[in-house]
Amino acid sequence: MEEQKIMIEQKMYYKGKPKNELTPITSNWMHELFSDQAVVRGLVERYGSPINIHHLPSFNQNCESYKQVFESYGLKNRIFYARKANKSKGLVKQAFASGIGVDTASFKELEQSLSLGGNAENLVLTAAIKTEPQIELAINNGVPIILDNEDECRLTQAVATKLNKKAKVGFRISGFEVDGKKLYSRFGFDVDEVVDFIGSYVGEGKTFDLLEVTGLHFHLDSYSTYQRSISLIASINIVSSLKEKGYPVSFIDIGGGILMNYLEDEKEWTSFNKNLKEAVLTQNNDITFNDYGLGFRLEDGKLRGKLNTYPYFNKINKGSFISEVLEFMDDASGLSVASLLLENEIEIRIEPGRSLLDQVGMTVAKVIHRKKDAKGQWLVGLEMNMSQMMSSSADFLLDPYMLYTKEVKEDESVDVFFTGAYCLERDVLLKRKMTLPRLPEIGEYVAFVNTAGYMMHFFETEAHLFELSTNLIFTGYNEKLSFFQFINDNKIVLE
Ligand SMILES: Cc1ncc(COP(=O)(O)O)c(C=O)c1O
Repeated sequence: MEEQKIMIEQKMYYKGKPKNELTPITSNWMHELFSDQAVVRGLVERYGSPINIHHLPSFNQNCESYKQVFESYGLKNRIFYARKANKSKGLVKQAFASGIGVDTASFKELEQSLSLGGNAENLVLTAAIKTEPQIELAINNGVPIILDNEDECRLTQAVATKLNKKAKVGFRISGFEVDGKKLYSRFGFDVDEVVDFIGSYVGEGKTFDLLEVTGLHFHLDSYSTYQRSISLIASINIVSSLKEKGYPVSFIDIGGGILMNYLEDEKEWTSFNKNLKEAVLTQNNDITFNDYGLGFRLEDGKLRGKLNTYPYFNKINKGSFISEVLEFMDDASGLSVASLLLENEIEIRIEPGRSLLDQVGMTVAKVIHRKKDAKGQWLVGLEMNMSQMMSSSADFLLDPYMLYTKEVKEDESVDVFFTGAYCLERDVLLKRKMTLPRLPEIGEYVAFVNTAGYMMHFFETEAHLFELSTNLIFTGYNEKLSFFQFINDNKIVLE
């Protein structure tokens, strides 16, 4: 009791509490760091603001939980971490240490993954544009190449001929028919043509005799388990047709896009959505910066558009998302997708990026200035820029944490927007207005949690010649928190 009281009395960090809270799920390691500002201070002073922290045990836990799901169905499986979602080398090394593979999407991603312990068994090349050096590197190392089109087949055949080696390949397919409609994708071979194509051109005595087809691949742009189940069933049928033609196809890779859940409370998510719509409709928006509708807009007095962000709350996520895909019943056979895979002896593969990074990362930045703009709004300038925490959609919708140097004893709450260092009006780091217990002091820190998936690196640029942020790998295995548990990712090498 006494101990708890002391903790409460010494609390110096607070979640931002806007009118429409979106409380993020957080992990103990984050709170330990928030509570030990000496360590955070040491890291920011040493590495500059902002820093990106990556917690390896959380990553390992995500790897384990995916493995367990597949094992519970008795399915042969392989998991590849889509490293496009985060560039840190430490996570690639941890993926191998956790017994999973890595999905690479460029020459450098492949080359670096090989240098960190990757090999023919635990790597795959899925790059959207495949150049000759990429293909050469993959063939030389026996890494499977996921082929997207006929030109790639030609190039792969030519490189294989030059190297006098066979190329292990998978065929990416798309255009699955779901409820009478074809799912469009710019990637892959059409589902209705791929069997004929492989049968006519691939294999001994044919145009592409050095391509050894080992599997099929797809990646859907949506987050629908239903579409994945239907596409998986179609792919299983294609595998059967190819096997009948003598092709030893052994795996189906269903790519990534497995939903994760960022938020603690579904009600917060529902009311945020409702209130934002209302605010746009009534032109009374005090939720976001400069009336930004995050995808909603008012046209002729009517609400148009839709929320253009990631769906941050998901009841079905990670393992339960995979289960939903696998438990879907196929009408034609009367079997579940999992049973079909088992019966046909097909290995299932996935390439999660974002969801393997759930609870893995956080970004911490330093407060540089506070000012009031012409509308009387408080702007808190941080030493970071919009590209260092940038979503591909309208906004990152998680409440941040304020790390104060002193406890807040009286209510001095204030509404603020966090602004960044680019010379653009729109460098507002979160579009939502945040209510904080008091105005931050210069030199205090703001922590944005769960940023490892896509937020840290995907759009990071060096405009104004700002340094790229430092990525720190945090081992944190139940030791007392210390500065020395954080390794600069640039220093990570194969040991
Ligand atoms: C081929 C492929 N695999 C895997 C992924 C990773 O998807 P996510 O991070 O949503 O799991 C992507 C993302 O674009 C992809 O294109």
